[in-house]
Amino acid sequence: MIQKPKGTYDVYGEYGKKILYLEDLIKSLMEKYNYEYFRTPLFESSELFHRGVGETTDIVTKETYDFVDRGERNMTLRPEGTAGVVRSFIENKMYGRAEMPVKAWYYGPMYRYERPQSGRFREFYQFGVEAFGSNDPALDAEVISIPVRFYQLLGLKNIKVNLNSLGDSESRNNYRNALIEYFAPHIDSLCEDCKERFSKNPLRILDCKVDANLEIMKKAPKMIDYLNEESRNHFLKVQEYLRAMDIDFVVNPRIVRGLDYYTHTVFEVEASVEGFGSSNVLGAGGRYDNLVESIGGPKTSGVGFALGLERLLTALEYEHIDILDNNGIDVYVIPMSTNEKDYAMEIVNSLRMNGFKVDCDYKDRNLKSNFKQADRLQSKFLIIIGDEEKQTKVLTIKDNISKEEHKLELDKIITFLDEKIVDAHE
Ligand code: HAM
Repeated sequence: MIQKPKGTYDVYGEYGKKILYLEDLIKSLMEKYNYEYFRTPLFESSELFHRGVGETTDIVTKETYDFVDRGERNMTLRPEGTAGVVRSFIENKMYGRAEMPVKAWYYGPMYRYERPQSGRFREFYQFGVEAFGSNDPALDAEVISIPVRFYQLLGLKNIKVNLNSLGDSESRNNYRNALIEYFAPHIDSLCEDCKERFSKNPLRILDCKVDANLEIMKKAPKMIDYLNEESRNHFLKVQEYLRAMDIDFVVNPRIVRGLDYYTHTVFEVEASVEGFGSSNVLGAGGRYDNLVESIGGPKTSGVGFALGLERLLTALEYEHIDILDNNGIDVYVIPMSTNEKDYAMEIVNSLRMNGFKVDCDYKDRNLKSNFKQADRLQSKFLIIIGDEEKQTKVLTIKDNISKEEHKLELDKIITFLDEKIVDAHE
């Protein structure tokens, strides 16, 4: 039997309903924040990600799905959303827009050749935003507030924002030199990956999971002490605005992020859910003031984040949060025989057009198995249609929980259901 590729999953049933629910919530949240919907291709030229994500990052060196197309072009399935949105911003000359910042949101599949494990897939879905053209620290705070509000709306409680600043290029260079000086005498005690990071990107040593508990890691110089005045002010302002918006955070100097493009603010949103392990980072992001330029656009600052849908759904499960409290259908229509099917379909159609969730028997079941089917579909009401109902157009509607019955004509049934099912027209 042909099986799905490793690290991927199919969506159906409950999971599908949850995904659709989350998609709706994302759309309405983004309207409130006034972000504009972007969709960019699932594949782009490989060069975009090399330049955009960074040549030395794990993503580019170990995790991309690369292929040569029939026109001999080097292509890559997108491992993340930022680079593509930046390319689109430049290619569509959005830097020329009068209304700045340009605030984009996106949602879709990303591809990374990672070792599949809990919370780590090879095809996964991200919801993210990117805001271009303003270096106002208030915009950093707005971006950080989006995943926090989103998780709060869903009822997740133990959410923690870890915040850090990598400063501007000057601050970062100073810090880089300080790290090189500090780690040089200890290089032999670091893991193999860190030895490589030491020469390519020493900042990444700080988020190494293998060496995390070494004494030398704990005493390593902190970025905060190397921020120049401008960078320090930016960072302090971000914190001030977060407090103004009542967003809890902790400054965590070990947040350096695995992508090369960040400057100033970096953050990770964590779910402190027991048993959740290393996949507890639900979402992450930061500011990238040089990325647009390095991909070929005019110097334009940017800030954004992305969160993974799969990890979010796992966190909800661990916290026993059922986002589908209104899971069943409203009405299940049962024709007593094929003679009443046409009238049953008329009723089904009218109820659906009036905004109710309706289904019908398509298997010519007997009454008893239809009652079972109504229970399986968690139907709130039943309408049983026999010859008499078809002739008189007076229908019996039965509450599937209380078993109470009412005899009503269709328009009265609609009014009745409107009162009973509050969210039917939402
Ligand atoms: P990232 O930290 O690589 O950042 O990914 C963001 C989120 O995507 C993670 O926190 C996680 O929830 C989810 N994620 C990443 N890899 C996987 C995977 N293999 N399986 C399941 N979920 C995963 C970025 O992608 C940046 N583009 C974020 C950003 C936007 N920064 C600025 N703008």
